[in-house]
Amino acid sequence: MIEKIHHLLKEISEVTAHNREEVEQLRLKYLSKRGLVSVLFDDFRSVPAENKRQVGQQLNELKNRVQEKIDSLKATFETTDEKPPQPSDLTRPVSGVPGTRHPLSIVRNQIIDIFGRIGYSVTVGPEIEDDWHNFSALNFPPEHPARDMQDTFFIARDPEILLRTHTSSVQIRTMEQNQPPIRMIFPGMVFRNEAISARAHCIFHQVEGLYIDKDVSFADLKQTLMYFAKEMFGEKTKIRLRPSYFPFTEPSGEMDVSCNICGGVGCNICKHTGWVEILGCGMVDPSVLENCGIDSKIYTGFAFGMGIERITMLKYQIRDLRLFFENDVRFLKQFTGAL
Ligand code: DAH
Repeated sequence: MIEKIHHLLKEISEVTAHNREEVEQLRLKYLSKRGLVSVLFDDFRSVPAENKRQVGQQLNELKNRVQEKIDSLKATFETTDEKPPQPSDLTRPVSGVPGTRHPLSIVRNQIIDIFGRIGYSVTVGPEIEDDWHNFSALNFPPEHPARDMQDTFFIARDPEILLRTHTSSVQIRTMEQNQPPIRMIFPGMVFRNEAISARAHCIFHQVEGLYIDKDVSFADLKQTLMYFAKEMFGEKTKIRLRPSYFPFTEPSGEMDVSCNICGGVGCNICKHTGWVEILGCGMVDPSVLENCGIDSKIYTGFAFGMGIERITMLKYQIRDLRLFFENDVRFLKQFTGAL
């Protein structure tokens, strides 16, 4: 037995391989179930008790040597003739988000999250709209001067097809397809033919909100908007509702929040008034409900719409709207948001 072990020790020290396959052959020859070393372990059972200690030590030594030799031969071929192993799924996203999110996406996601906590789900609609969804169903009759408030881009000179001027069009699509209760928000991009400046752009983003059910009142609207303002701008934020006009709501209002830059004392962002307007809102006009097949004798509801750019500018004290569209990395890399 001892002789056999010595023989194998010598053999293994001299053995060599030229590629991975030969290494595998060696492993099978020595270490597989029927391999030379394993067979010796089987024979070990019949070694007389008084020799077991000595033989056992040598046998273990042999096994370790063989294993080491095979491991080291394997390692040589892994680094030379083998390509590095490919990750199993090349389409898998890298861990973590490379870069940072766009500030408008951060704020949009925050708005979705804030309303999500009080039961609002998210729906989106098309950016290319027809006259009915963008205007007529919302109580803008043809030739109505309110249409001029929203300088519209028409598609291919067709007055029926246009780029939506607001996300209110998604209210109509939603009410046409769903009966109350409806509690949804609609984020999206909108388009108006405006000259680009620090305060206006021809492309911007809105989030629209809609809540229709039995017994929904203006008090519900006010409470919902107050909750939103405090979640978005901080617990100390105050709100103020001013009467306004929109064709699709009656009564209509505009909501201001206390300026979070000067704390309401007055600065050039709030034009020294202490207040900044952030959204339009109101009780959905009964004829809009009827236009969408909802019985206005049973149901009431409120709607609101806000500009994401405006809210982001206030939140991060950004003074020029054009920065959102230029994608200058020096601007973008300042925003790190979890959402
Ligand atoms: N669609 C309006 C705009 O773009 C904003 C708005 C006002 C939306 C009042 C509403 C609302 O839902 O109730 O100027």
